Amino acid sequence: MSRPPTITVNGTERPLTGARVHTTLLDFLRDAGPTGAKEGCAEGECGACSVMVARPDSDGGTQWTALNACLVPAAAYDGQEVVTSEGLGGPDDLHPVQREMAQRGGSQCGYCTPGFVCSMAAEYYRRDRTAGEHREQGDHQADHGPNGFDLHALGGNLCRCTGYRPIRDAAWALGEPDPTDRWAARLAEPAPETVATRFAAGDGDFARPADLAEALALLDERPGSVVVAGSTDWGVEVNLRGRRALSLVAVDRVPELRGFEVTDDAVTLGAALTLTELERLLAGRLPLLDLVWPQFASRLIRNGATLGGNLATASPIGDTAPALLALEADVLLASGRGEREVPLADFFTGYRHTVREPDELIRAVRVPLPASPVVGFHKIAKRRWDDISSVAIGFALDVAHGEVVKARIGLGGVAATPVRALSTEAALEGRPWTEETVAAAAEVLRFEGTPIDDMRASAAYRTAMLANALPRLWAEVSS
Ligand code: FES
Ligand code: FES
Repeated sequence: MSRPPTITVNGTERPLTGARVHTTLLDFLRDAGPTGAKEGCAEGECGACSVMVARPDSDGGTQWTALNACLVPAAAYDGQEVVTSEGLGGPDDLHPVQREMAQRGGSQCGYCTPGFVCSMAAEYYRRDRTAGEHREQGDHQADHGPNGFDLHALGGNLCRCTGYRPIRDAAWALGEPDPTDRWAARLAEPAPETVATRFAAGDGDFARPADLAEALALLDERPGSVVVAGSTDWGVEVNLRGRRALSLVAVDRVPELRGFEVTDDAVTLGAALTLTELERLLAGRLPLLDLVWPQFASRLIRNGATLGGNLATASPIGDTAPALLALEADVLLASGRGEREVPLADFFTGYRHTVREPDELIRAVRVPLPASPVVGFHKIAKRRWDDISSVAIGFALDVAHGEVVKARIGLGGVAATPVRALSTEAALEGRPWTEETVAAAAEVLRFEGTPIDDMRASAAYRTAMLANALPRLWAEVSS
């Protein structure tokens, strides 16, 4: 290729010289000079590695988006712009976020601080952040400061020594960016265009195809390629399990995988849209998914993770699958042979296995409309935010004239794959929507799935959570 791959870091273009295919963006940055971003966990759970990247917004401008640099390959940022804490400000010229953190005691040992600063700065620059903004959902109300700062922006950043109150004080003290602020001014300009990339190093090849046809051709040419999008799962495999691939094919910017369409009878979600993008595009159209988003990992992860990726990894504890099973979603699979549509309930074939053939890509997920109105999403995990499910349950019920007309229940964490609770659905349908029906169906739900003991929960605990789920849903929807 004629154009050498580069990344613009804090305004300076830097060649990817010396990087390998499995070099993370974090390691590339630290080797290139800025060492503010740190490695804490290397698996997307601490935020010490947070940086800001320039992503397109819906108006042709840029939005600064914070994500975990420890998880993504540096090659995936060819042609892109990255800002680290050093790019925001220095000791003699503190950025407003850095100044508030310093003055309000938001930093002690400082290890987490550059990551907090980048996550906080991305939220500081969010264009629709407005003073006085509050969400109406009870739990979230207290999470927005008087300046509109959403504390969930910091949900993926952990601090082990300062305590969070001074950090929250710093976030909520921020005003509006000054128009002369370099990174605020950047918002009005277009984000860097996606560039098709071919990057080869001693440990393999990285390819970013320009479109779907090229992506499918690459999968044909390079059997065994690992398909990556946000790399939030692959990055953990690389960092903690030492996995390597001879060929990576990055599909997160393939235009045909980033569509979003709403018709009278369905909403079609592009597989390569990030969860943050979907949350904003759906704007409440699927209330069940609105219950999922805040509980799915952290904003840092949701800024990179895609819907297609969450399904393709086929984890039994992926959080979108139980909700999408309850919504009766279909998966649209594209290949050189054409496209096929598979009900999500038939998509998973075994632990980490699906019906997807090696030459197929998930193009989109289709959810039929109208969606059932009585919904619930229960994620049982050790921490309320930024954690992995022990059990997840999605509910979508139609109730008319006091009777359950339709019940769809998706389960995660209780079998080798996400599954529908078919016996419980049958125990609800056609019955009066009463506490007695709920109690009887709860006993059926108790025995759905084949839960096992593992590091997250015992089988007995999982069974108990299943038994509690319907009475909890009843309490939620009838209060
Ligand atoms: Fe912990 Fe990246 S190092 S999230
Ligand atoms: Fe020490 Fe946060 S300041 S970990």
